[in-house]
Amino acid sequence: AKDVGILAVDIYFPPSCVRQEALEAHDGASKGKYTIGLGQDCMAFCTEVEDVISMSLTAVTSLLETYKIDPKQIGRLEVGSETVIDKSKSIKTFLMQIFEECGNTDIEGVDSTNACYGGTAALFNCVNWVESNSWDGRYGLVVCTDSAVYAEGPARPTGGAAAIAMLIGPDAPICFESKFRGSHMSHVYDFYKPDLASEYPVVDGKLSQTCYLMALDSCYNRFCEKFEKLEGRSFSISDADYFVFHSPYNKLVQKSFARLYFDDFMRNSSFVDEVAREKLAPFSALSSVESYQSRDLEKATQQVAKHLYDAKVQPTTLIPKQVGNMYTVSLYAAFASLLHNKHGSLAGKRVVMYSYGSGLTATLFSFQLREGQRPFSLSNIATVMNISGKLKSRHEFPPEKFIGTLKLMEHRYGAKDFVTSKDTSLLSPGTYYLTEVDSLYRRFYAKK
Ligand code: ACO
Repeated sequence: AKDVGILAVDIYFPPSCVRQEALEAHDGASKGKYTIGLGQDCMAFCTEVEDVISMSLTAVTSLLETYKIDPKQIGRLEVGSETVIDKSKSIKTFLMQIFEECGNTDIEGVDSTNACYGGTAALFNCVNWVESNSWDGRYGLVVCTDSAVYAEGPARPTGGAAAIAMLIGPDAPICFESKFRGSHMSHVYDFYKPDLASEYPVVDGKLSQTCYLMALDSCYNRFCEKFEKLEGRSFSISDADYFVFHSPYNKLVQKSFARLYFDDFMRNSSFVDEVAREKLAPFSALSSVESYQSRDLEKATQQVAKHLYDAKVQPTTLIPKQVGNMYTVSLYAAFASLLHNKHGSLAGKRVVMYSYGSGLTATLFSFQLREGQRPFSLSNIATVMNISGKLKSRHEFPPEKFIGTLKLMEHRYGAKDFVTSKDTSLLSPGTYYLTEVDSLYRRFYAKK
């Protein structure tokens, strides 16, 4: 198969959200800490009628219907998620309900899990399948779904929730440049979920930030090495039109792009302009450990890279700022923001993607874009996703309601024998919701 990649996308996030400004005031944090300090506007959350399974059922059904894909045409289904509902039964098997109904049970693939990286693992699996000898000519389908919730404390405003479905096949408008991948994987306790009785992670926030940036440097350098080896010339930021990052919160994305700019400067100072060369020169002797700790370096790089950030990163930040960290969905929601904002002018552009999952696993890879043919065209994908419409029709809850919901979900996590309120007043038609968990922990969903 040629030009394998993403043919179609649909995204779902809960209509319930809380404003970061209100949460900040409620938590007694200093004004601006969540909005400017973290760079976030709003955070979506699942109420008691939604979870990662209902969101993924919604995203998959919507994708199949809007792009008119016969469920029999799906030959592989891979799910990325770090939200554990069952330690054995995969989320993929819940999604099989959609396909069984149409007589298609011949679908490979299960779930992939490693923090926010599972979606990327699922995507690579599907792309590799289409490129392989075992491909049977049908489509692959990748689903990322997560609900990010944190215990009370500084990490709580960095939650979020969403699901995204991506159709994989040949002759794609969003085509993988598979030869240029750079990965970095290692054993670290920066963010993990060892307490199986709780949905909340154990997180060392500061360590996770440093790990994220160290892995970024390592992936970028490897990516550049591979590019140079294959293309016979160096890679620098100017070789890509957009940079999309896994986005736990926007401030880290700002720092990450600045870090790539500093990496370019360190590899070859002629990659950056003269003003930047002068401003960054004092930092060139820092050891790599020192470079992660230097606030002055952070400020200087963000300042000199600001114009490039505005052009190459800002268009990717809409959904992550409005919805929050969506874990496995986050990177792809950022990419969806780019499609939404720039779909008319993306043909011929190269997009670099950075996926990070704590623990840790990280890969930097790239897409080559072209307009494509309906229904698999960039402009049709933007229309189908209807991101403005979905953002506009949300309902803002006061922080008390958000916190009350988290309290209820703490009790419901791992519980059996309950029915939900079945309150679907906020959900749009076609949305799946949880109705009941019976005495054998079996979960039941209905569609509005
Ligand atoms: N106005 C403007 N900015 C402010 C204000 C204010 N009133 N108050 C604080 N800030 C700034 C700080 O200076 C800081 O910015 P900086 O990093 O540029 O200096 C930022 O707001 C955050 O403040 P901190 O004091 O560093 O925040 P805190 O340590 O309380 O929590 C953290 C932040 C660590 C990110 C926490 O939310 C967390 O642990 N989140 C989960 C972990 C995470 O997302 N890690 C990322 C990678 S791993 C993953 O994806 C899960």
